[in-house]
Amino acid sequence: MSASFCAFPGNEDFARRLRVGLAAGATRLQWRRFPDGESYLRFEDSPAGLHLAIVCSLNEPDSKAQALLFAAATARELGAASVGLVAPYLGYMRQDKRFRDGEAVTSALFAAQLSAAFDWLVTVDAHLHRRRLLAEIYSIPSSDVSAAAGISQWIRANVERPLVVGPDSESERWAAAVAGGAGAPHITLRKVRSGDREVRIEAPDLTAWRGRTPVLVDDIISTGRTMAAAVRLLAAAGFAAPACVGVHGVFAGDALEVLRAAGASRIVTSNSIAQQTGTIDVSASVAQAVEVMLSHVRSEK
Ligand code: R5P
Repeated sequence: MSASFCAFPGNEDFARRLRVGLAAGATRLQWRRFPDGESYLRFEDSPAGLHLAIVCSLNEPDSKAQALLFAAATARELGAASVGLVAPYLGYMRQDKRFRDGEAVTSALFAAQLSAAFDWLVTVDAHLHRRRLLAEIYSIPSSDVSAAAGISQWIRANVERPLVVGPDSESERWAAAVAGGAGAPHITLRKVRSGDREVRIEAPDLTAWRGRTPVLVDDIISTGRTMAAAVRLLAAAGFAAPACVGVHGVFAGDALEVLRAAGASRIVTSNSIAQQTGTIDVSASVAQAVEVMLSHVRSEK
């Protein structure tokens, strides 16, 4: 049975790269909004008999998740042999704990919804902090592809005498992996967040790293406040303007302007979310992970 990719809006380029990499087909989906905001969905190509992979990066997940669940269920009704999800950016991974009484632990709730709708999931650098594995919340086979090698390669090609800097303790594992691949040292700063857009960064003694070019590395750039505060701190400490590298360029609201105004020399992300900054292509690694998922579902049918 053949594999086919169905791109949600904004994911066409990523889906095309996967199709080319895996010599798979394309299944077109029409999605439009009725005047009242409800979704109209129609498969323009039949998914019957196909191992279908829907490609949908889940930034701004509330605007997409309902249509995504409808699309997966419809593909099954129309006879798809299996329905997988490629979400290069997987949203709702940060609220992984009830910090205050009464809060929704949305990472687990979202995982339950997607697990009920899809046969498998492939994503890139999921924000696993208090949880170690996607399998702790996703009950379907899942694969978490790392963008570290691509980021290391970008640093080697673009930055002389780099110092990889993780802006907070949560970025430590990305910073360490990237620094290892780039053959560069790395340090981690300390972050205190007092609100969605209120961030304070503190640094250890940086004297030993003078003369190096800082490259800030984090998994997500959302409001940009974490990176911006780190850029300002490093500039005040006498370093050259840092490059900012995020795996996922979410760029909520004025994030890009804030980051540029803080003095970032370059802002680079992977193409997990379609953004102009997305020069680090992770589609080849994602295609490999998808191939593994497809071979599992094929062996089961
Ligand atoms: C922390 O949870 C993440 O690793 C990032 O540091 C965080 O998401 C960045 O958020 P913002 O860009 O809104 O400061």
